[in-house]
Amino acid sequence: MLKNNYNGFPEDFLWGGAIAANQAEGAYREDGKGLSTADMMPGGLLKGLEKDSEDLNLYHKAIDFYYNFEEDIALFAEMGFKTFRTSISWPRIFPNGDESEPNEKGLEYYDRLFDELLKYDIEPVVTLSHYETPFHLIEKYGGWKNRKMIDFFVKYCEVVFNRYQDKVKIWMGFNEINNIHNIPTAAGGIILKEDENKMQSIYQASHHLFVASATAAKRCHEIIPDSKMGAMLSLSGVYPNTCHPDDVFETYELRRRSLFYSDVLLKGEYPNYIQRVWEENDVELEVEHGDLELIKIHTADYLGFSYYRTTTHKAGTPIYGHTGGVVGSKNPYLEETPWGWQIDPKGFRYVCNELYDRYQKPLFVVENGMGNVDKLEDGRIEDDYRIDYIKAHLEAMKEAIKDGVDLMGYTYWGPIDIVSAGTGEMKKRYGFIYVDRDNNGEGSLERKKKKSFHWYKQVIESNGEDLSKI
Ligand code: BG6
Repeated sequence: MLKNNYNGFPEDFLWGGAIAANQAEGAYREDGKGLSTADMMPGGLLKGLEKDSEDLNLYHKAIDFYYNFEEDIALFAEMGFKTFRTSISWPRIFPNGDESEPNEKGLEYYDRLFDELLKYDIEPVVTLSHYETPFHLIEKYGGWKNRKMIDFFVKYCEVVFNRYQDKVKIWMGFNEINNIHNIPTAAGGIILKEDENKMQSIYQASHHLFVASATAAKRCHEIIPDSKMGAMLSLSGVYPNTCHPDDVFETYELRRRSLFYSDVLLKGEYPNYIQRVWEENDVELEVEHGDLELIKIHTADYLGFSYYRTTTHKAGTPIYGHTGGVVGSKNPYLEETPWGWQIDPKGFRYVCNELYDRYQKPLFVVENGMGNVDKLEDGRIEDDYRIDYIKAHLEAMKEAIKDGVDLMGYTYWGPIDIVSAGTGEMKKRYGFIYVDRDNNGEGSLERKKKKSFHWYKQVIESNGEDLSKI
């Protein structure tokens, strides 16, 4: 009789946390770093570029991770992290993006960072581009609308693959690549004008991103033969708002607009359904000889994704994007965070199954977490709401494993408080570790363990078996 072998978290499950360079490092002009899109968005990526803004920009110092990473990594190690996902800031390596030589100081910083992780046996997982394209590339070349970007990106990739080949084995390409539809400048490094055919620009830039991803995968495997190169999508869920067939089908199409990106990156070809979308939106893709073959051969080894919440969609209503996924109408059955993100662990199990059924490749949950207002009382932060959120999501993940889903790991988003990507504020905290800094930029930057710190340690120690509250 065939037995179900999928009972719990695998022995080598990668427990850890994830951050992005621009939300944590600070030191935004130090050691030769160039400006990125993130540096120009003081109000967060939902507000978009505010190039000459005088507003306080919390990203510029962020949580000073650039100078504080030793202390922070020691705390991650104390929690028992097996892995830590961060991004390399592209403009630290190529400040403008189009130089012929990389910035040695930037490379040295990541050497020190990865060495520090490896000192504690924490496996670095590295995102090559997390919402931070060198700004000069957008100004001078029009960003990813321009095919030249492929060469700039591949060159940057080759430099970091060569440099860190003995230190980093797990890589991923563009953070939440499918968000190019919702937040084009942050996710796709493009600026859309009112009078242009936006769909043309989005799909042409996407084509360049696909060719760049495939070429990066090729070079990664050549330079680091025992490496894995993944895709990374924002895949929080969306339900039809009612069972009306119009709502159901339009929601299906909306979901497919996201899954299009993993379809291409994991299956290696443009799916049939996209032809009609292009036709109806007057999209004419410029594809060069050899592009499709590259995309076909050099597919992603795993699918990394973020999952925060679900929303519902009603046919004919506008679609808004947010960092946590698309925003539709409220679901009356779900509770929400103070930022209105509806909490849905069952939706997480659903999405894990949906993705594994579709791709049959390992899944890596590289972002999941709860942003909340934490109160420091008598020197303590009792963030039971965060523990409840994660507990419910880990239980759902365990169910997904029992369903037969192949899950590589779980990196909780923002294990230490960082600046919010969406809104540029400190008040929205995700961490197990509190950082003393507020929305006005005031604070000592001192680190403090929250209650969830001790709970997550217990989770990792028991390989996800002991989720009981402390
Ligand atoms: C994801 C991004 O979309 O959501 C992260 O990859 C981001 O960079 C996270 O921080 C949470 O969003 P926010 O807006 O709460 O920071």
